[in-house]
Amino acid sequence: MCVSCGNEFPAWSGKCPACGEWNSLKEVTGSILGKEQKRGNNGEVISQKLLKVELKDQERLKTGIDEFDRVLGGGIVKGSLILMGGEPGIGKSTLLLQVANKLENPFYISAEESAGQIKLRADRLNFDNEKMDIVADGNLESVLPLVKKANPSVLIVDSIQTVFLSSFDATAGSLLQVREAGIYLQNFAKSSGIAIILVGHVTKEGNLAGPRILEHLVDTVLYLEGDRFADARILRGVKNRFGPTNEVGVFSMEKEGMREVKNPSELFLSEYKKSPGSVVAVVLEGTRPLLVEIQALVAPTHFGYPKRTSSGFDLNRLNLLAAVISKQTETNLANSDIYLNVVGGLKISEPACDFAVCAAIISSYKNRALPQETALFGEVGLIGEIRRVSKQEDRIKEAKALGFDPVFGLKDLRDITKLFDR
Ligand code: TYD
Ligand code: MG
Repeated sequence: MCVSCGNEFPAWSGKCPACGEWNSLKEVTGSILGKEQKRGNNGEVISQKLLKVELKDQERLKTGIDEFDRVLGGGIVKGSLILMGGEPGIGKSTLLLQVANKLENPFYISAEESAGQIKLRADRLNFDNEKMDIVADGNLESVLPLVKKANPSVLIVDSIQTVFLSSFDATAGSLLQVREAGIYLQNFAKSSGIAIILVGHVTKEGNLAGPRILEHLVDTVLYLEGDRFADARILRGVKNRFGPTNEVGVFSMEKEGMREVKNPSELFLSEYKKSPGSVVAVVLEGTRPLLVEIQALVAPTHFGYPKRTSSGFDLNRLNLLAAVISKQTETNLANSDIYLNVVGGLKISEPACDFAVCAAIISSYKNRALPQETALFGEVGLIGEIRRVSKQEDRIKEAKALGFDPVFGLKDLRDITKLFDR
């Protein structure tokens, strides 16, 4: 197994064929991931006709927290393994404690914080589920028998990087432990029918620590994202064997925990007002169109190389758009610093945001504001053309519902000056 990327190979080599890392393949022995199989009389694996495969009905536990249930495709599937990743301090433990409060008889393994610390958090959240058990211990071999006895509806493991199997000679959080603990918990979930939610930390680059392994193993991967210094939190489904992926739930972190946000656009636009460099974009989060404010500040470069920084938007894409603007319009950014910010801590990866980003930059450069109600979407191509994006009708509808005037039909970035004069 490659200790860097987690891929497995039948033979050793000096360089990992998958990630290219040198000297990262280590021999591992022990369990391999098994799937439910149809077996014959002697226990051998047999094939079956696909159309005859029996589906076990997927019983779902609803938490009543709609934003959470929706991301999972309608609730927690019994016996499923769910991974919730996110940066430290973003609110994973908080959200899961609130989820636990709504469940029948949950069980919480806290290997990171003491029972007292969880109790403090519970008090803050007005937690009142008398049936919840908690164990503050990371040794799975000694804790899981307790879980089995309690037979909870859902087991929460906080976090996968701090639990361990004492039979493996590796520290908690190492790739090997994470993998083995993951497999162990997966078997436990499948054999007991208890759904398990794993908390996973992400590295600086935004990957789950113990990258590949866990994502392959689990049925569902959720990410909780947001800016720690802002309130908005996005729960994003990136993999789901039991429902849609790319669904998002929006929360706001408040004094008494996470509050569901039914109308996210209002949250992201709460402080928006017309001014140069500020533009409203219609982006798609999952299947939902959302209005967000994008701000750009363009300032002259005083010496040397122009500086570009971006928060919530890909920096390479920003550099590319800056080049397109310089080359294709009369706005020359060669001697300008550009600072870009997506307000509210949202991270946007959709190219449909390009047009709004360009408009914010040009608006700041020219020091002219767009009319207050303008909302923009569209992908910008290398020759300055504005391209159609998916779900145009939904975007227009959401913008109009919030009293905005969506711009569509503009085909060329050069025509952007028309917007200022509208
Ligand atoms: P936490 O759930 O501990 O994050 P994670 O488990 O992802 O590391 O959340 C920690 C932050 O949330 C902490 O900075 C305090 C804040 N918080 C609130 O704002 N309101 C609350 O009700 C709670 C419990 C936490
Ligand atoms: Mg935590």
